[in-house]
Amino acid sequence: MSIAPPHGAATFELPPYKSLDNETLSRRIEAVRAKMGSELLILGHHYQQDEVIAHSDLRGDSYQLSKMAAESGDCRAIVFCGVHFMAETADILANQPLKLAERDGKRVTVVLPDMAAGCSMADMAEIEQVETAWEELGEWIDTEDITPVTYINSAASLKAFCGRHGGIVCTSSNAAAVLKWAFERKSRVLFFPDQHLGRNTAKAMGISLEQMPVWDPMADEFGGNTPEALKSSKVLLWRGHCSVHQMFTAAHVDLFRKQHPGIKILVHPECPMEVVDKADVRGSTGKIISEVENAPPGTKWAIGTELHLVNRLKHEHPEQEIHFLSPVVCMCATMYRINLAHLCWSLENLAAGTPVNIIRVDDDTSKWSLVALERMLAVK
Ligand code: 13P
Ligand code: SF4
Repeated sequence: MSIAPPHGAATFELPPYKSLDNETLSRRIEAVRAKMGSELLILGHHYQQDEVIAHSDLRGDSYQLSKMAAESGDCRAIVFCGVHFMAETADILANQPLKLAERDGKRVTVVLPDMAAGCSMADMAEIEQVETAWEELGEWIDTEDITPVTYINSAASLKAFCGRHGGIVCTSSNAAAVLKWAFERKSRVLFFPDQHLGRNTAKAMGISLEQMPVWDPMADEFGGNTPEALKSSKVLLWRGHCSVHQMFTAAHVDLFRKQHPGIKILVHPECPMEVVDKADVRGSTGKIISEVENAPPGTKWAIGTELHLVNRLKHEHPEQEIHFLSPVVCMCATMYRINLAHLCWSLENLAAGTPVNIIRVDDDTSKWSLVALERMLAVK
């Protein structure tokens, strides 16, 4: 559980920040960066807007950003330009007991510039629903033989649940290695909250769709499954999804292949199975970027992930032909909440010693989340 409310209203004083132009905001942001120096670390997820990314010290995918937070050296504050679960993860990793001891008990303050920057997928697996599911599952199968695996896109309370029950966290870049780790220990996996990442990863490992029933937390009983389906399951998929990646369809892939012969389809594994099955390459945002960076000039791509990242790749790689794999806009509205006004406001308050929008995970939740995160960080 987070002490700061996940999507609570922050006292963001719109005037004067809202009325400032980007040039002024940028100048003031850079002034804080210069003043705080190495005490401040601004992390930016690849889905952030260009003007925000321009002020980040480090950018990365969810896995890379977790590692950066875990390794944060002499910084005293992390301003996370991303979404709520990322800032929670940064708080847990940057303030783990070993790090606190190295800093004589001084905490790193983790700030999310806008508290409304949540993740709708993470919100689809609430801890109360998860606890109920675990109890119901226990009526038909031995829960001691299930590894709970949560995608990093989840609340700290769910990561802690996984930590307490022998489970683990995964990201889009290590989901296959994490599932392998899980099956080396137990015979079943309960995968939260993204059914698509779970299905795409398990299918590529040779697990059949029949062995992957979906657990619907809104169903009347047993997640909408028969006891037989639960007993014959290998991977139970929580019914959650990313509203951004769910917009890409197999028809979009077919259309691009027809209109642009030779085009390569590159998608994020949060896309539905029908899209991933038809793609040439799938991977995390970090992998999507490296695929494009390493491709020869003239390569044609249709990319299925968040719009800001695809537009940045287009801009940075004019030597390649890059298309967005959908005729409609697929943008992460919550990532987009982080703008220069919120960044400037949170930074100036931090520099003034009156930090706002602090993300602080309570000690017990941190302790158990860390168990699940460390298991992930140890998986090769
Ligand atoms: P990655 O950056 O790990 O690929 O995750 C994408 C995403 O949806 C972040 O919320
Ligand atoms: Fe959540 Fe999807 Fe946005 Fe990622 S892109 S933060 S999964 S809603």
